[in-house]
Amino acid sequence: MQVAQRLEGVGEYYFSQKLREIDAMNQAGKQVINLGIGSPDLPPHPSVIATLQAEAAKPNTHAYQNYKGSPVFRNAIARWYQKWYQVTLEPEQEILPLIGSKEGIVHICMTYINPGDAVLLPDPGYPTYKSAATIAGARVVTYTLQEKNNWFPDLEALERSDLTNVKLMFVNYPQMPTGQLPSIGLFERLVAFARRNGILLVHDNPYSFILNQKPLSLLGIDGAKEVAVELNSLSKSHNMAGWRVGMLCGKKERIDEILRFKSNMDSGMFLPVQLAAATALDLGQDWFTALNGVYARRQKKVFELLELLQCQFDRHQAGLFTWAAVPVRFADGYLLSDAVLQKAGVFLTPGGIFGNAGNSYIRVSLCATEEKIDEAIHRINNTII
Ligand SMILES: Cc1ncc(COP(=O)(O)O)c(C=O)c1O
Repeated sequence: MQVAQRLEGVGEYYFSQKLREIDAMNQAGKQVINLGIGSPDLPPHPSVIATLQAEAAKPNTHAYQNYKGSPVFRNAIARWYQKWYQVTLEPEQEILPLIGSKEGIVHICMTYINPGDAVLLPDPGYPTYKSAATIAGARVVTYTLQEKNNWFPDLEALERSDLTNVKLMFVNYPQMPTGQLPSIGLFERLVAFARRNGILLVHDNPYSFILNQKPLSLLGIDGAKEVAVELNSLSKSHNMAGWRVGMLCGKKERIDEILRFKSNMDSGMFLPVQLAAATALDLGQDWFTALNGVYARRQKKVFELLELLQCQFDRHQAGLFTWAAVPVRFADGYLLSDAVLQKAGVFLTPGGIFGNAGNSYIRVSLCATEEKIDEAIHRINNTII
């Protein structure tokens, strides 16, 4: 059967292939330590699980839900944005709950892209931006992020390039995979760039609470709602990746436009999940302090592991990963990743899967216990790589 042309250039996700290879190694008795994927291994707060259990036990919580989500959840999102980002959102009009922010990326592309329209994407960046834009029929234009520019886009260079038909620009800070934090100045320049060029900015913000003291929202910039929408997620900040809970925030008109597409794709989110997510969003500083304590201890050990491999890295990185340049004796991150997998049975993600600008890097996940990271260090220490 011939698949549709829109899938040309959209392959199986790198991790789904790699996990098969790792499974085969495990079946052969290798016991691979996977430091590849950013899926939190810790559970959500007990009160979140208690809300889910209590709500799911009720007889009246099982019906189809409002396409725009429960008011309880939307109000909790509005309170969360106000409390942590000092951004005021109108819960009835400026918030759309999502079944994870990944689906939001696809919905946004499907809502705005006509064949021939272009989408600006970061390189290195989250691979879903490219697949979603491609599926929607966009011409994909990457903008390169470089370490020497703090992994910020070179907006002057972009503005000198041909921006005809560019309709959307994806940005993501704290940046995945580089761990780079945003600055208010960067967000202001992005908003001004989008305004001058008539581009809709899509800020993807799932990592702002991880290893970061000062969460920022792009919507906190004056005039941002006129040119930008923001995706956010409970996957990383509340250890709820498998629950599939995210949100889109922005001006009423954008929310309504994107809902026009999304309401034809799904039939809302299970109410007990939304109510439990509302409980999660009302958690206080204690939650983030405990969570970041765990990640900071793991990060220290990951730094040790990277030093053993003679990788170079910045110690101020946010998010669930550490990004590091591979030593020059490896032509790229793929070769280092393969060598560490084959010789030490430890999987690290090659930076090249995030785009060519990531070729000389690797990315190490913090979603593994300190014991596992210690074991990985031990194995690497006992191997010539
Ligand atoms: C940059 C980035 N955006 C979005 C997502 C998707 O998150 P969600 O679980 O909310 O779909 C991820 C997940 O890894 C990510 O790294």
